Amino acid sequence: MTEATASGKVYLFGEHAVVYGQEAICAAIELTTTVRTRQSDTISISSGLGNTGIDYCVHPYVSAAIETMMPEGEGCGIEVNIESELPVGSGLGSSAAVTIATLFALNKEFDKGLTKADIAKVGADIEKKIQGSASLTDTYVSTFGGVIAISKKQQLHVPDCAIVIGNTHEFSSTRKLVADVAALKNTHSEIINPIIEDIGDIARKGIGFVQKSDYNAIGQLMNVNHGLLDAIGVGTCKLSELVYAARNAGAYGAKITGAGGGGCMIAICDNPDDVAESITNAGGEATITHIRKTGVE
Ligand code: MEV
Repeated sequence: MTEATASGKVYLFGEHAVVYGQEAICAAIELTTTVRTRQSDTISISSGLGNTGIDYCVHPYVSAAIETMMPEGEGCGIEVNIESELPVGSGLGSSAAVTIATLFALNKEFDKGLTKADIAKVGADIEKKIQGSASLTDTYVSTFGGVIAISKKQQLHVPDCAIVIGNTHEFSSTRKLVADVAALKNTHSEIINPIIEDIGDIARKGIGFVQKSDYNAIGQLMNVNHGLLDAIGVGTCKLSELVYAARNAGAYGAKITGAGGGGCMIAICDNPDDVAESITNAGGEATITHIRKTGVE
């Protein structure tokens, strides 16, 4: 049996703008997905979503990973079992984590000799195929861990403050949200293009503050980034309620993470219990986590 674990991610800065080549800063988190594989004579995939064979409705990412990695030949099969701490469709990179963990396990299982960089690239291609449009961010961060400035794939200093995640439990589709932002950008390019560039500027400026662990400045920029995400139409009332609940409880800063339209927000803080309680009282599900330094293993 082969076992692989890969992490989910949060964006400190730059989601959506990264799709247009802007800088973003993304961090792996201690919430992970574990995939166990065993060679067999048929293909089976089991997870909290159900038990299937190759099935692009229930297990699209794992199905694509198997079809990419599986050697050809009769009687060649694989059992894949998935256990995940990452809620699906919540902006925490659950699809990247399951894709990367599956590719990593199958790489060992079938002795394919791919490097981690190869796995990140194959994972990004799979995400693009399934989601229509995706940046390299989620799969890269899940593969390598830590805090990464995406444009140059630069590993940054890992801040040791807590991250509190607030889940709205509103389902969000990355594919739809990326398409909605593209449509808004087409219709009002003179307004939306500068906002996308401002989000990139925030991430570029944020690099220096992350390197110095300047939590006050990181928090201020996260708050501005949240406002700009709202402006490009990916906020929801519930997300903002949780963001303000976190800020009112003393977080340095709080914002949407991931595609928005529901899903999750994050706050960085030194008082995670207070922030988590405030998010819970505002109707969110709060999880306290930290940045995971290691990548897939
Ligand atoms: C989704 O986690 C982040 C987006 O920027 C899409 C992407 O980067 O692929 C919205």
